[in-house]
Amino acid sequence: ESYDLGGHDTYMHKEISEQADAVDRALRGRIDDRFSTVHLGGLNLDAREARAVRRVKILGCGTSYHAGQIGAQMIEELARIPSDAEPASEFRYRDPVVDPDTLYVAVSQSGETYDVLAAVQELKRKGARVLGLVNVVGSAIARETDGGIYVHAGPEVCVVSTKCFTNMVVSFALLALHLGRIRDLSVADGKRIIEGLRKLPGQIDEILKGEAEVKKLAAEYADAKSMMFIGRVRGYPVAREASLKLKEVSYIHAEAYPASELKHGPLALIEPAMPTVAIVPDDDLLEKNRAALEEIKARHGRILAVAHQEQEKADHTILVPKNEPELDPILMGIPLQLLAYHTALALGRDIDKPRNLAKSVTVE
Ligand code: G6P
Repeated sequence: ESYDLGGHDTYMHKEISEQADAVDRALRGRIDDRFSTVHLGGLNLDAREARAVRRVKILGCGTSYHAGQIGAQMIEELARIPSDAEPASEFRYRDPVVDPDTLYVAVSQSGETYDVLAAVQELKRKGARVLGLVNVVGSAIARETDGGIYVHAGPEVCVVSTKCFTNMVVSFALLALHLGRIRDLSVADGKRIIEGLRKLPGQIDEILKGEAEVKKLAAEYADAKSMMFIGRVRGYPVAREASLKLKEVSYIHAEAYPASELKHGPLALIEPAMPTVAIVPDDDLLEKNRAALEEIKARHGRILAVAHQEQEKADHTILVPKNEPELDPILMGIPLQLLAYHTALALGRDIDKPRNLAKSVTVE
C-alpha cells in the first residue's frame, strides 16, 4: 500500500476501502491450524509466562484506547483473564499499583504518542512486563516494549483512524486466541475463532458494498445537532468509537452510552432532534437491546440500528453479516466509519485534517 490517493478523494475513504486487505495482512502467516491457535513471533512470552498472567491491562489514547476496550473484552472472553483498558494519560498520573502478575499492553498506531510512551517507561522502570500492539514498525513504543504484535495496517495518513483501528481489534483477537489456547480455550473453540477470522476480509468487502445506502442515511442524519450512540458489552466500545469518529470528522456532538444506562439519565435527552445509533448484534443481549429501542421510540427518538437482522423499532437498519459473537465488534463499526465519512462530506468538512487535531500527539 502506498501514500498515493489511488483515485479516492480523501485518505479517509481510501483507508476505509483498504480494510479487507489490511485484515488479510494481519492474519497472514499467523494461523496455526494444527493446534487451532496463532503464532505471534514477536510476543516474547513463553507458555509458562502466559499461564502465570493474572490480569491484562491495556493502555492507549483516543481510537487506540477504544480498540483496547474491545481487546480487553476479547481477552476476558477467550482467555478468561480479567482484563481492562484505560487511557494511558490517566493511568500514568494516578500512581497505579504495578503488579508483577499483570501483563500490560500499550496500543498505538504511530507508536509515538507521548502519553502512551511515558506510561510504558514508568511501567518498565517498575519492572512490569509490557507488550506493544503497534502499527509503525520500529517506532518508540515498539522499541521500548518487551515484545508485541505489529498490526500491519499499512500507512495511515488521515488524522482519524479507521483501518488501523480495525487491524488493532483483529490483532487483539489474535492475542486473545493465543492466550486462550495456552490456557483453557478448547480446540473446538479455537477452530471456531479461526474460521471466523478467515471470514473477515470477505465480510468487510460485503459491508463496503453497502456504501451507497450509508451515504443516503448520512444525508438524512446530517442535520442532527447531536447524536446518541448505544450498545451493550461487546457493542459498547463499538458505540464509543463510532461516536468519536463522528465527532472528530463531522463536528456533530455525539455521546456514547451503554444501552443499559439510558434510563439512569441520558433518556432525558431523547427527542426527535436527537437521533440514536444503536449497535444490535444477534447475541444474548438482543432482547435487552430491543427493549432499549422501545424506550427510545416511546420518546419519539429517531433510530438507526446496525444489526444482524432488521430491527422493527428502528427507522433504518444497516445489516451487517454475522460472524462469531466474539468477533462481531470488528464488523459492526465499519458501516459507522462510512456514516462519519459521508456525514462530514455532506457538511463540507476537512475530512483528512479535522480542525484542532493531529495524527499523533508527541507532546504532553
Ligand atoms: C491522536 C489522533 C487519534 C489517535 C490518538 C492515538 O489524538 O488524532 O486519532 O487515536 O492520537 O494515536 P496513536 O498513534 O497512539 O494510536
